[in-house]
This record gives sequence, C-alpha cells and structure tokens, in this order.
Amino acid sequence: MATKAQNKNLHQAKNSKKDEFYTQLPDIERELKNYKDHFKDKIVYCNCDDPRVSNFFHYLSYNFENFGLKKLLATCYKNQEMDLFTLHNSEQTIYLEYDGDKNGNNVPDPEEIGIKHLKGDGDFRSKESIELLKQADIVVTNPPFSLFRDYVNQLIEYEKQFIIIGNLNALTYKEIFKLIKKNKVWLGASIHSGDREFGVPEDYPLTAANSRIDKKGNKYIRVKGVRWYTNLDYKERHEDLILYKIYNPEEYPKYENFDAINVNKTKDIPLDYKGYMGVPITFIDKYNPEQFEIIGLGISNSGKEIGVEPYKVEHKKYRKEVQKRGAVDGDLYIWISNDDIEQYMAKNQHEPNANELWLYFQGVINWVKIVFPNYRKEMKGIAWGFLYNEFKDQKLDSKKLEKEIAELMQDEDVSNKKGIYLYVLTGKEKHLNIRAFSDNQKREAYERQKGICIECKEHFEINEMEADHITPWHDGGKTSAENCQMLCRDDNRRKSGK
Ligand SMILES: C[S@@+](CC[C@H](N)C(=O)[O-])C[C@H]1O[C@@H](n2cnc3c(N)ncnc32)[C@H](O)[C@@H]1O
Repeated sequence: MATKAQNKNLHQAKNSKKDEFYTQLPDIERELKNYKDHFKDKIVYCNCDDPRVSNFFHYLSYNFENFGLKKLLATCYKNQEMDLFTLHNSEQTIYLEYDGDKNGNNVPDPEEIGIKHLKGDGDFRSKESIELLKQADIVVTNPPFSLFRDYVNQLIEYEKQFIIIGNLNALTYKEIFKLIKKNKVWLGASIHSGDREFGVPEDYPLTAANSRIDKKGNKYIRVKGVRWYTNLDYKERHEDLILYKIYNPEEYPKYENFDAINVNKTKDIPLDYKGYMGVPITFIDKYNPEQFEIIGLGISNSGKEIGVEPYKVEHKKYRKEVQKRGAVDGDLYIWISNDDIEQYMAKNQHEPNANELWLYFQGVINWVKIVFPNYRKEMKGIAWGFLYNEFKDQKLDSKKLEKEIAELMQDEDVSNKKGIYLYVLTGKEKHLNIRAFSDNQKREAYERQKGICIECKEHFEINEMEADHITPWHDGGKTSAENCQMLCRDDNRRKSGK
C-alpha cells in the first residue's frame, strides 16, 4: 500500500504534469518570425524549459545568426526527470548558454553549448533564476499555466520584454487584464483562433478526444484557446478592424445591468455607436488600440469596477431573451475611440468591401449637409447613420429646423445641446435633458405652498415631494422659482405619466 508520503508525491506529480506541455516547433516559428527586428543584439532567456527537449532552445539556437542574437540562455526545471513516486527535489538542474556559432557551420554543436549547473531546482522565482532573468532582454517560453499570473508579474516587475504562450482565459485574470487594458501587454501575431497541439510526457494520461500518439510513440494533446502574449510591437496589431454595420436598437439591445449594447460577434460592432459595447472576449484578437478602447470586463467580479450591476431575478428573463440571439453577456466592454467616421472611411476606402459603405456614408454626409447646413461643434459624435435611416425620406424644412435649433441652443434649460438635433427630428424631450429645479427653488415653492401638495391638498415633508414645471417647458415654462410647484411623489408620477 502506498504510504502517506508516496500519496503526497503522487498528488504533486499529477499536478505538475498538468504543466508539462511542450510547444511545437511550427508554432514557435510562426510567432517568433514576426519579431525579427526586436531580437537583434539581444540576450534571450528561455526559462521554465528543458533545453534538452525544448523547441524554443532548438529554434533560437538554429536561428541565432539569422536573428542576430547576442546570447541565448535556457534553464531547466527540476520536474523534468521526475517519475511518479520519486520527486528528484535534490537534483541539481542545469542551464545552457549559447553565444553563437564558432566553427562556421552555422549549427549549434554540442561543444559550442555551455552546459552549467544551477545550485537549486531552476524555479523561475529562485534567486539564481532571477539573476539570469536580470541579464536577459527578452524572455521566450511557455510558462507553467498554473503559475501564469506570478510569471507575468515577475516579467513586469523586472521590466522584461517577452513572448510567452498561454491560454486566452488568462486574459480575464485581474492582473493580466489590467496590463491588457493599459496596453502594456497584447496578444501575439500568429494565433487568433483554433486549438494547438502540444507534446506531453510519455506517462501523461491521454483522453481519446483531444490526443494522439505519432508513429514514434510521441504523445500530443490538443488545447483550446491558446494565444501568445507579448509586449513586443508588430505592425498588424495597429490595423483597423473594418466595420460595416450601422447601429439599431433592435439588433443591439442594451444590457439590463449596464449601460452598454450587446454585440454578439466582433465583426458586427456597429461603426456609428458612441457608447459602451459588450463584445465577446475573442474581440481581443482584432483589437487595435488606436481604434478601440477597452473599458472593462463584464464577466466575474471585475464588472463591478466599472459599474456593472450584479444580476437580479428580473435579469434572468432578459438574459434568456437576449441570449436566444446568441448574446455573450458583455464579456468585454469596449468603445470606439476613433469616432471620426469620415476619417475612418477615408482611411479604409480602398478595402474591397468598403465601396458600398463609402457610398452609403457619402449619402449620410450629404443628407446632413442639406438638412442642417449650419455646422456646429455639437454635431460631432451624433449617430447620424441612424437618423439618416429613419428620416431620409421625410420632407424637412431646413430653415425652420435651423431657427428651432438656434433658439434651443440659447435656452438655458436645455442641458444636452447635442440632443437638440435628435429632438428636432424625433420630438422627444428626453434628448434635451431639461434642467432640473435646484434645492433652493424647491424649498422656496415648498414654503410658499406650506408643504401642501397642489394636486391632492395633503401635507408632506419636502423629501416626500418632487418639483414640477407649472407651465411645461415645451409651452414656454422656465426652470425658475416662479414656475416651480411641489407635488407629492404619487401625483407627480401620475402627472408625468399622463
Ligand atoms: C507548459 S510547460 C512548457 C515547457 C517548455 N517551455 C515548452 O514549451 O516546450 C511549463 C514548464 O514549466 C516547468 N515549471 C513548472 N513549475 C515551474 C517553476 N516554479 N519554475 C520554473 N519552471 C517550472 C514545468 O516543469 C514545465 O516543463
């Protein structure tokens, strides 16, 4: 029977096996070739690695001259030669140092690779590993997934550049998301979808669905959601995502618990929506920091930080309804930071699928110029596409509209001047955000009425009453003390509901 110590060892062994995934050469090649310029004269460190079998060490040593590297370091972690019942805790681990081809054959020969011993086990957090890290300019590896946060935090603490492979889920970790949001870390260039195959140790327990054994007996496992994380720049991440959809409230319902619209698929992000939008986490694969700004995460507890309300019972019904359409519940909240549509269209007009859209926007712009010929700065940022769709077929008197707009612009009670354009077209007063009565004005009216509600003639405390315009704003009534009356809450709601 196994002893307690053996059981513990077995447990540890099982856990550490979860971290034993060996990155395949083609995946490494496809990613690293995007950063060739960054590698010139740099010391590259591959830790959490077993240089004896590592494709990272293999690829970088064979491309040492091609990339113009200065030095390549790789450390091995203790667990590499562990069997189920023995943890070789005392085994000194090794590290390799390679500083380029000496004999002119452009191949890293064994005698050119310096094999050195570490005193400890090669834990990336150990003092001697940190000393090696300090020497390095760029770190490249596949760190243990179970320690991903600690691993990234250490890279940031020591201000290292890096290219590491991990899982998309890691993006939702508080520490990692903070870095993504601040544009200090981003996804690498080569993997944006699908799963990836990793080598696993001989004794790795394989389940049929996602594993295979090749002719030589090597075992592999397929992993979903794999992505590279890096802080090295590359051109493609600054390319605009081409948007072509126009916002409409039916297709993009608002969340119950946050003032954002739901966008089911990244490609459907409406180009004219100005507020927050909830998008799937995979939006990050298309994220250009000049085009969009990431506001926060909707999932887990992180939403609270940006004011996402926790779900209540009533939300359930809403969720059911919205999710029927394949909604994602706002995994990630973003908005378009580059909101100048004309500039955006001009930049993307040569895209093959942009012609139709370009014509459409010419139509929108011309319509706005004809209906509202007098340009004001408040016209920026209005969802013109939406108004055009709704009102383009109506006969509108631009002179009359201009007169109304000019008057409303001067009206002190209109606090949302941008809303004037929506108001003159839709007639909905809510767009104007009519100024509310001040506490002083309310108190004055309350004293005048001696606390009696004008409608029901009952007495109320001031905090049980609400202020109301005697002459409504649309009939010329101002938000002034003389035009203020206090009604009990019920009467006021009844009145405004009429
Ligand atoms: C996902 S594997 C990747 C291996 C290798 N970098 C590759 O892709 O071929 C993570 C490696 O980190 C090692 N590891 C686990 N915990 C570690 C620690 N605390 N410090 C350093 N390495 C560790 C594991 O033994 C494992 O080999």
